Amino acid sequence: MVSHMPFDDANAVKGRIFELRRELHRHNYRYYIKDDPEISDAEYDRLLNELSDLEARHPDFASPDSPTARVGAPPTEGGLETVSREIPMLSINNAFSEGDMMEFDNRVKRFLKTDAPVTYIAEPKFDGIAVELVYENGGLTLGATRGDGVTGEVVTHNVKTIRTVPLRLQQIEKGIAPPAYIAVRGEIIMPHKGFEQLNAQRLQNGEPLFANARNAAAGAIRQLDPAVTASRPLEMFAYGIGRFSDSDRVDTQHEILQMLEQFGFKVNSFVRHGLGIADVIDFYNTLAEKRESLPYDIDGMVVKVDRLDFQQELGATARSPRWAIAYKFAAVQETTTIDTIEVQVGRTGTLTPVAHLAPVNISGVMVSRATLHNEDEITRKDVRIGDTVLVQRAGDVIPEVVKVIESRRTGDEIPFQMPSACPVCGSGVGRIEGEKATRCMNAACPAQVKERLKHFAAKGAFDIDGLGDKLMEQFLEKGLVKSYADIFTLRREDLENQERMGPKSAGNLLAAIENSKAISFGAFLYALGIRHVGKHMARVIADAFPDIDRLAEADKETLSRIEGIGPVAAASIQQFFDNPENREIINALMENGVTISYPGRTENTGDVLPLEGKTFVLTGTLEHFTRSGAKEYIEAAGGRVTGSVSAKTDYLVAGKNPGSKLDKARSLGVSILDESAFTDLIGGSGT
Ligand code: IVH
Repeated sequence: MVSHMPFDDANAVKGRIFELRRELHRHNYRYYIKDDPEISDAEYDRLLNELSDLEARHPDFASPDSPTARVGAPPTEGGLETVSREIPMLSINNAFSEGDMMEFDNRVKRFLKTDAPVTYIAEPKFDGIAVELVYENGGLTLGATRGDGVTGEVVTHNVKTIRTVPLRLQQIEKGIAPPAYIAVRGEIIMPHKGFEQLNAQRLQNGEPLFANARNAAAGAIRQLDPAVTASRPLEMFAYGIGRFSDSDRVDTQHEILQMLEQFGFKVNSFVRHGLGIADVIDFYNTLAEKRESLPYDIDGMVVKVDRLDFQQELGATARSPRWAIAYKFAAVQETTTIDTIEVQVGRTGTLTPVAHLAPVNISGVMVSRATLHNEDEITRKDVRIGDTVLVQRAGDVIPEVVKVIESRRTGDEIPFQMPSACPVCGSGVGRIEGEKATRCMNAACPAQVKERLKHFAAKGAFDIDGLGDKLMEQFLEKGLVKSYADIFTLRREDLENQERMGPKSAGNLLAAIENSKAISFGAFLYALGIRHVGKHMARVIADAFPDIDRLAEADKETLSRIEGIGPVAAASIQQFFDNPENREIINALMENGVTISYPGRTENTGDVLPLEGKTFVLTGTLEHFTRSGAKEYIEAAGGRVTGSVSAKTDYLVAGKNPGSKLDKARSLGVSILDESAFTDLIGGSGT
């Protein structure tokens, strides 16, 4: 582009700026809301750069709802401003049982004195931070927290950094003009994955950890500096409205959700309407089962009378509306006492203090141990032996001690100190600068060796079926296995002499060991147990290097140029391969028959992955796969999984209780696979 724009080209510039904004808003929506991008990230970046260049050179055309406006607002000085709203954001009554729900239903019907059927809409209750976003003539003008309901804190610049928050209301269906005024309500959440990454990063930086995703989201949204919010992985689900200038456009809550979806908001798909109270209870049980597999926290279900005229009639008490109730899930936190604190030694020598608890039932699971993470966390929470503590279980992560209930202290509690020697091998322990973990410095420590071996044979690594923790411990005790390579020289006699091991299981194990010898590059790297190299990073590395020899030669500078590998991991990888002992370990494995396959190298063989270029959408519950498991299979075979059905979708995989995607796929003529057809397809691909 020329630097001196002829004067009469101003219109052309303006036109281009508007065009770019429209395009970028659309791509943003396809990517973040629909999970179905049309262009590559690089192309998106090029458009964004072009726009931000043009805007920088023509500040007259700047606009607060430009896609470039998501970041870059200066920090607020002092504290956050506050704002009052006309229609308060109320709180909501809780129900904990079917009985409570029946009572709610009776109350509603009594109050309405109607013979017309009262139907409900049920939505997940997101465990995040409630916000209200005001759009005037389609543009976002205010974002505020719920605060006390009437007065909230102004967080406009912060919400603008969240990609699932539209900067302009979108008119997807023709004929929908943006309303003069609408206050959209919803919940800002931090998905589990982002939360874990954030905490891992904070651990590395020596910053205090967030106790849960909700606290992390709250902390992120109330930042004074929007740049900090922008760096946190937040999302928003829209679930309702406040003041609305065109309120006659909608008659029901489900129409509100449809409208919000059309405006470009992310609306949750686990919503059912047209429910009687019995259906509500059924759906609650379905949702309770789904809960653990969802990538974000929900703590119950919000049940609302669907018709807005009924809602009006029911009205609200001072605190909460009569037309809605939160049907909460059983607690995932319970109190119990700490009997003792044990220190475990991990694969990399990390000493982890673990609390042994008086067993307690937390939402259906007996918990008798909980992690205390590390020395600093024990100090911060001032955890002592004998304390009464709050323990939390979330999804499939290890239960943890959240805090001490200080009012229950008797004075007999015993403060805990990290040992100065490894509890297993007795050698010295230390803390590496900048790290939280106390570490046993002896790489030959039996505890470390044991944990490394278990990891080596486990899922995602060599994945040796039948070689679990217990058996590995027996092999170690008997001296049959001392190093990774020994696993591949085990003989039938060795196995048959083990406890609980007959000729048949010995044969099976030998076959599994033999099978495991052909291993993908990524799984092999993960199995080696290099510090800071988890499953995901192992795959990133495997994708970036043609083979292990080339990787072994790479220095940390080369490594950290790869996206997804940070400086700490890069240094750790270089250090690993610099160590001749590790090279010998790898050689010994090769000598014992291990062969690494390089699945990424299809161009060399002319092979194309069987599902290359195919796009899949998943709906309903599969019996033999989790969502993420099914996705992994598809991706391993070269396919791609997107969130919504379009004409470009090749297959819809439909499990039990499929959603509306099934109808859409049928109407578009997309091939529909049931679980067994799907299994055949990926099974046939050799995965
Ligand atoms: S509706 C009176 N719907 O629950 C009903 N609230 O409302 C007004 N929440 O902190 C709220 N998910 O942020 C509604 N699907 C959902 C919700 C939801 C979570 C939160 C909301 C507020 C609390 C009480």
